[in-house]
Amino acid sequence: MSENRPSEGQPISGPDVAHNARVWNHWLGGKDNYPIDRKVGDHVTSMFPSIGEVARADREFLGRAVRFLAGEAGMDQFLDIGTGLPTADNTHEVAQRVNPASRIVYVDNDPLVLAHARALLTSTPEGATDYIHADAHHPDAIVRDAKATLDFDRPVAVMLLGSLNFILDTDIAVDIVGRLMAAVPSGSHLVITHPTTELGGEGNVDAMRFWNENATPPITARSLAEFTRFFAGLDLLDPGIVSCARWRATPVDGELPSIVPQFGAVARKP
Ligand SMILES: C[S@@+](CC[C@H](N)C(=O)[O-])C[C@H]1O[C@@H](n2cnc3c(N)ncnc32)[C@H](O)[C@@H]1O
Repeated sequence: MSENRPSEGQPISGPDVAHNARVWNHWLGGKDNYPIDRKVGDHVTSMFPSIGEVARADREFLGRAVRFLAGEAGMDQFLDIGTGLPTADNTHEVAQRVNPASRIVYVDNDPLVLAHARALLTSTPEGATDYIHADAHHPDAIVRDAKATLDFDRPVAVMLLGSLNFILDTDIAVDIVGRLMAAVPSGSHLVITHPTTELGGEGNVDAMRFWNENATPPITARSLAEFTRFFAGLDLLDPGIVSCARWRATPVDGELPSIVPQFGAVARKP
């Protein structure tokens, strides 16, 4: 476990200000949050009622994407940036059920995620897990520290689920993804989920404004055109960029899950 630098964009921590990792945990039905997180989270829900559905759809996407990567795609190394608080079916649990030798490095900059990181370090004996307390604004430092656990001469699945939306400047966010993907070889994969005000997410605009006035870190939504920029030079895998709820989803009683305003996609580095 390593801590490479202080967090940026999150100067305030503790129980006085709502934090994304803890509010996300609240929306997922978890208990690792403070009253202020529940208060702000519930207010967001009152403005944007499908946010809980978005959070659950995002986690279900994580399960499907990691099962695909660890199985069919043969990936056994994962770099999960913006991990969130430990919950059911963390990346290493999903990957190691498919391939017990999978190696996973988690990265987050929330102090409470760091405090709970031990729950992410429960690797199989054949595989490995590590946690790096670091800010996604510093991809080169993340890669440097991840090399203690991952072999960057072999393919790595880079995962940024619900975290690039906290990098407010799109050019900077695209540059971060570019640096990460430049550090991994051909055959590596990129997995992203990201909120949007498209796909019926118009109600998200006011909820995000409320979030930015009352919680940390500040968030932004992105359009399909902006989201597509993250995959420049990569081969998007079927079905391309869709609502994460629909990415390789199995119909239940003949019905696909409802669309949520959160893009999801997986791409391969050629
Ligand atoms: C919406 S949660 C998503 C958690 C998990 N990836 C998932 O999809 O369920 C976003 C996570 O990104 C983390 N995060 C936000 N900004 C970050 C940054 N600049 N560097 C690292 N992590 C960040 C937050 O602390 C939070 O845990």
